[in-house]
Amino acid sequence: MTRTHFGFESVNEQDKARRVRGVFDSVAPKYDVMNDLMSMGLHRVWKAYTVLVADVKEGQQVLDIAGGTGDLALAFAPKVGSTGRVVHTDINEAMLREGRNRLLDAGVNLPTLVCDAEHLPFPDACFDVVTVAFGLRNMTHKEDALRENEPRAQTRRQAAGAGVFQGGQTA
Ligand SMILES: C[S@@+](CC[C@H](N)C(=O)[O-])C[C@H]1O[C@@H](n2cnc3c(N)ncnc32)[C@H](O)[C@@H]1O
Repeated sequence: MTRTHFGFESVNEQDKARRVRGVFDSVAPKYDVMNDLMSMGLHRVWKAYTVLVADVKEGQQVLDIAGGTGDLALAFAPKVGSTGRVVHTDINEAMLREGRNRLLDAGVNLPTLVCDAEHLPFPDACFDVVTVAFGLRNMTHKEDALRENEPRAQTRRQAAGAGVFQGGQTA
């Protein structure tokens, strides 16, 4: 069985996926408050920066992976407008449910899908922009998640916590 890291521990791969799921199942209802407290609000700055560099335009197709409670999906929705689409995905249903409720409370109705970022169910190159905020560290095979997230043109930008993979721009 292949070993990987979970925090400072060495665990087998299946165990890591199970533990990651357990963590987010248990924190989902209080994730947003915890995130603000633990990062002292800094996650908001990284997300604002991500939205800025993503430079999403009206009509574009955006995929947010490991989207959790939907901060990025919420920010991108008004930018793509009614002619574009933001797809909000995460492997964890409890996190997605929190996110979907927040989005609906904000009057935003968009597709929300349970997806493992390492095995995305979308055809290649069907999104203009793919984002991941604070999610890569939870993935066992980061290279698979990155490979499957290549957008229409294959350039990439990465901010410290939140990343944008964007077609048609220099990295
Ligand atoms: C720290 S949270 C970040 C949530 C959100 N992007 C944010 O910045 O607020 C990490 C998220 O990654 C998700 N995740 C972990 N492994 C994943 C995988 N293999 N595929 C998709 N999502 C995954 C978790 O369920 C969790 O919602």
